[in-house]
Amino acid sequence: MFPIAAGPSAARAAVLCGLAGWVPSRVVTNEHLARRLDTDDAWIRTRTGIRRRHVVDPGQATSDLAVEAGRRVLASAATDRVHAVVVATTTPDHTCPATAPAVAARLGLAGVAAFDISAVCTGFVYGLASAAGLIAAGVAERVLLIGADTYSTIVDPLDRANAIIFGDGAGAVVLRAGHPDEPGAVGHFDLGSDGTQEDLIMVAAGGSRQRSLPGEPSRQDRHFAMRGKEVYRHAVTRMAESARATLSRAGWKVDDVDHFVPHQANLRILHSVADDLGLTRERCVTHVESVGNTGAASIPLALADAAAGRMIRPGDRLLLTAFGGGLTWGSCLLTWPALPAPAHPYDPCDPHDPCGQGERTTS
Ligand code: UT7
Repeated sequence: MFPIAAGPSAARAAVLCGLAGWVPSRVVTNEHLARRLDTDDAWIRTRTGIRRRHVVDPGQATSDLAVEAGRRVLASAATDRVHAVVVATTTPDHTCPATAPAVAARLGLAGVAAFDISAVCTGFVYGLASAAGLIAAGVAERVLLIGADTYSTIVDPLDRANAIIFGDGAGAVVLRAGHPDEPGAVGHFDLGSDGTQEDLIMVAAGGSRQRSLPGEPSRQDRHFAMRGKEVYRHAVTRMAESARATLSRAGWKVDDVDHFVPHQANLRILHSVADDLGLTRERCVTHVESVGNTGAASIPLALADAAAGRMIRPGDRLLLTAFGGGLTWGSCLLTWPALPAPAHPYDPCDPHDPCGQGERTTS
C-alpha cells in the first residue's frame, strides 16, 4: 500500500480562518429509541457512550444542513467570497448531481468550483487535504469545506444495531491561502484506504452495481449496513496507525498534542485509540454523547463544540484522525489559530442529566 503522506512543503498553505457547526432541532434520546426498538438506555450508553442524537425532519436533506453551517461559517470568517465549495458527505441529496453546487448556489456563491467528496466518515480529513491542494496549486485563495450527513435517511429505523449510533449534522470551515508556519495551517497529512474491506460498511442498492440488475432491491439492500464488530477492530487499529504516522512525519511526540480530535464513532473506540497512543483521555475531544456519530460532520462539529466552550485555545496543538467506510482513514495536524469562538452547535449533554425522556425539538 502507498498511503498519501504529505507535509506543508509548498510556500502556500491552507490556513483555517472560520469554523461553525449546526444540527437539526429534533432530538432523539435513547429512551425514545427504547420505546420502538428492542434496546435500552443502559445498553446504548455502555456500548457507545451515546445519550442522544439530532435528526432531520421529513423533507429536510443534507444540503439544508450544509447551507446552514455554510452561512454560519462565512459569517465567522467575515467573508462572502470563496473560490471553491467542497462538501464531504455519504448522504448526498441525489445520486447525481453532487450536492456542493446546489449548496454554493444557495449561499450566493453560484459560479465557483463546487464538488463533493465521498470518503464516508473520513470525508472531512480528505476534504482538508483537497482544500489544501487547491490552495497550494493556486486554484483557490479561499475554500469553504463542509462535512454534512443525514444518516437518519439511510439507516433502517428498525435496525437497532445502527439506529442507535448515528445522528445528523453539519460542520464547516473556511481555509485561506497563508504560510505553512502560521497558526491554523493544516498539514502534515496521512490518508489511506483498503477497498478489500468495502463490504464492512455499505449501502448495497442505489448505485450502478444494483441498477444494472433486474428487479427491485430488498429493504435491507436499500439501507446502511455495517459489520459492527469487525469495523470496531479496524477503526481502533487504523486510527492509531494513522495518528502515529502523521506525528512521526511532523516530528511531533504524543506529548506535543494538546487535543486529539477523532471522528466520533463510538466513545469506546475513541478511548481505545487514545489509550493505544498513550494520550490521556482528558486530551481526547468527545461529543458523541450529545449528537452520536454524525459521519463527515463529526470532526468539524467536535471542533466547533470545543472552540465554543473555550476548551481549544489559540496556540494549542491538535491531531485530527478519522476512519470510515471504504475502508478509509486519515489524519492531519494543526496549531489552533485565533478565531472568533463559534456559537455552540447544540446544548451539550450533561453526563449527570438523563437528557430528557424522549423525542423533542430544541429551539
Ligand atoms: O463511523 C464509521 C465507523 N463505525 C464504527 O466505528 C462503529 C463500530 N462498531 C461499534 O461501535 C459496535 O460494534 C456496535 C456499537 C455497533 C455494537 O457493539 P458491540 O459491543 O460490538 O455489540 P455486538 O454487535 O457484538 O452485539 C452484542 C449483542 C448481540 O446480541 P447476541 O448475539 O450477543 O445475543 C446483539 O444482537 O448485543 C445485541 N445488540 C443490541 N442489544 C441491545 C446489538 N444492538 C443492540 C441494541 N440494543 N441496540
